[in-house]
Amino acid sequence: MRFTDKVVVVTGAAQGIGAVVAHQVAAEGGTVVLADRSDLVAEVAAEIAAGGATSRHFLCDLETYAGATDLMAYAMAEFGRIDILINNVGGTIWAKPFEHYEADEIEAEVRRSLFPTLWCCRAALPHMVERGAGVIVNVSSIATRSRNRVPYAASKGGVNALTASLAFEAASKGIRVVATAPGGTEAPPRKVPRNPNEQSAQEAVWYQEIVDQTTESTLFKRYGTLAEQAAPILFMASDDASYITGTVLPVGGGDQG
Ligand SMILES: NC(=O)c1ccc[n+]([C@@H]2O[C@H](COP(=O)([O-])OP(=O)(O)OC[C@H]3O[C@@H](n4cnc5c(N)ncnc54)[C@H](O)[C@@H]3O)[C@@H](O)[C@H]2O)c1
Repeated sequence: MRFTDKVVVVTGAAQGIGAVVAHQVAAEGGTVVLADRSDLVAEVAAEIAAGGATSRHFLCDLETYAGATDLMAYAMAEFGRIDILINNVGGTIWAKPFEHYEADEIEAEVRRSLFPTLWCCRAALPHMVERGAGVIVNVSSIATRSRNRVPYAASKGGVNALTASLAFEAASKGIRVVATAPGGTEAPPRKVPRNPNEQSAQEAVWYQEIVDQTTESTLFKRYGTLAEQAAPILFMASDDASYITGTVLPVGGGDQG
């Protein structure tokens, strides 16, 4: 019950890693605020509430600073504090060699996989500084060294830099800033697709190259599970990790990213 009496904001909580993290934090006593731009997040929050935990959902577009400040204002209004922020929104939209990316696609990747974390850190920080306490866990990726997704890799490299640099500033204010870097993760088919357009035959080949490289670069030669990604996020968020800050923990079956 590591999250008893903790208010925990989880972004991108409608599915995948974010939904599992929200469920597990609630199972360990946490009060959870689930944020997403898909209204499927309401179902996840309702499942958690049905299990007896206190949960809320908040619809917002975290590619915008207004979305991030509205989310933090909502959590503050509901519960009066934010103990832990888990920045989970992200994920590559396209899979292809860099010379095939259009300029607007590159911008879309950075908006998806860097800005939500940047905005949410900025929006939550004043509330944590005021209380002199808080934990931020950013969900990065081992794909900072990988093929066919350079804009995503660059965005997650930015998440790693933001984690390390904000940790410097925040430590003296009682705030830890850490990250996990998941490797390839098996999950049920996404209800909210990362890219709603149908994949071409060429794109399928480029995507398979990612799968092959990801599998090959682990020592276990397999993808991880959602549970194997959620557990280290919960550890980093909990007081078990009280002497850890600025660290990006690779969770890629031995792939260091
Ligand atoms: N799944 C993997 O194999 C894997 C591997 C490495 C890293 N990661 C990272 O883990 C995190 C979660 O991955 P996942 O595969 O579970 O994600 P996912 O793509 O399955 O779900 C992401 C969620 O974020 C929401 N979202 C997207 N943009 C949003 C926005 N602007 N505002 C609010 N909500 C938004 C979506 O609606 C969705 O519910 C991501 O940061 C991803 O980069 C995942």
